Amino acid sequence: MYRAALIGLGHMGRHHMRVLNEHPEYELCAVVDPQTQQLPPAVTAPLLADIRQLDLEALDVIVIAAPTASHLDVMRALSRFKGHVLIEKPVCETVAEGVALRELFDTDRLRVGHVERFNPVVVKLKEVLRAGHLGHVVHVAFTRVGGFPRSIQNSGSVIVDLAVHDIDLFNWAFGKPTLVGSAAHAHKPEKGHAPAVHTADILLKSGAGATASVHCSWITPTKMRGIRITGTNGTCFVDLIAQTCTVHTGGITAASQLPTVDEITFGQFVAYSSVHDTIEFGIVRTEPLVAQLNGFAQFLRGEPSPCATYDEAMLALRLAEEAMKKGDSLVDAAE
Ligand SMILES: NC(=O)c1ccc[n+]([C@@H]2O[C@H](COP(=O)([O-])OP(=O)(O)OC[C@H]3O[C@@H](n4cnc5c(N)ncnc54)[C@H](O)[C@@H]3O)[C@@H](O)[C@H]2O)c1
Repeated sequence: MYRAALIGLGHMGRHHMRVLNEHPEYELCAVVDPQTQQLPPAVTAPLLADIRQLDLEALDVIVIAAPTASHLDVMRALSRFKGHVLIEKPVCETVAEGVALRELFDTDRLRVGHVERFNPVVVKLKEVLRAGHLGHVVHVAFTRVGGFPRSIQNSGSVIVDLAVHDIDLFNWAFGKPTLVGSAAHAHKPEKGHAPAVHTADILLKSGAGATASVHCSWITPTKMRGIRITGTNGTCFVDLIAQTCTVHTGGITAASQLPTVDEITFGQFVAYSSVHDTIEFGIVRTEPLVAQLNGFAQFLRGEPSPCATYDEAMLALRLAEEAMKKGDSLVDAAE
């Protein structure tokens, strides 16, 4: 059993606490949050108000789910810790903070919670890609909208908060990306605050030639998380919430009956090209956070693990920051 502490017991921390508490390979030994007064009765670990109260030598792992803006300070408080850390995404609020983190902690012992890698539909998508069902991938469209933070005004940027998930997925499944361009909307700031970017579109391209568009927004009232992958042989639709993965091919059946190009009439072309084969892949639905803890345990055992490394997380953060700096930004008028 890995002796674990959890830092931060807000929205995400409560999910981490539940899965740590139930996971057979971890023993939750302490929870730290300066705000929270009470743990659920099922959790018997002590609740501490300050990281300095942790007995670092008695711990194997620490999971950090404190606000992103505090990640560097939290890691500073853990610089004597000799175990392993799983820190929530994004690794830090800025690239400069991420670079400073490297000075404080051996990042070989750090993994970053890019949890979508563990979504069973993403695992299935990688199989679909490996099997060549889509042919050569041309474009990937990511949508990540809704689920806004309680205070958009003071929450920084949707690009750093949400788009990092998709930038990481594009890197992980389709090859190292570079930024092509971006455009964003921001709220008109309250006095003393920077404008908060709430909606953005980012265009990336991978070394293998695929392009990607990432549309992310905090203000869309409906929560949607999806990927559409266009390949030369078919299109794949992935719903990350419903955990479904469907491929529409260009019509394997119809293509086998297709006359040669010289003989085909326009009417025949329309008739054949409107025939599709649809494959709905079976998915064993699992909670990505539980799968991530399994992946973290693999990493702790020295086994190959899909957990995002510091360098991978920094790549996503770097591109997010670049998209913020280089993109066109439209500041919405105050309502
Ligand atoms: N992987 C995902 O899908 C996902 C989803 C949501 C949030 N997150 C990430 O999780 C982190 C937390 O986000 P959240 O939405 O849970 O925030 P939150 O504001 O709901 O909760 C943060 C908690 O941390 C506590 N805290 C603040 N400073 C602390 C400190 N120094 N030590 C210990 N606790 C401290 C706060 O009191 C609060 O209870 C962020 O990095 C965020 O990006 C990830």
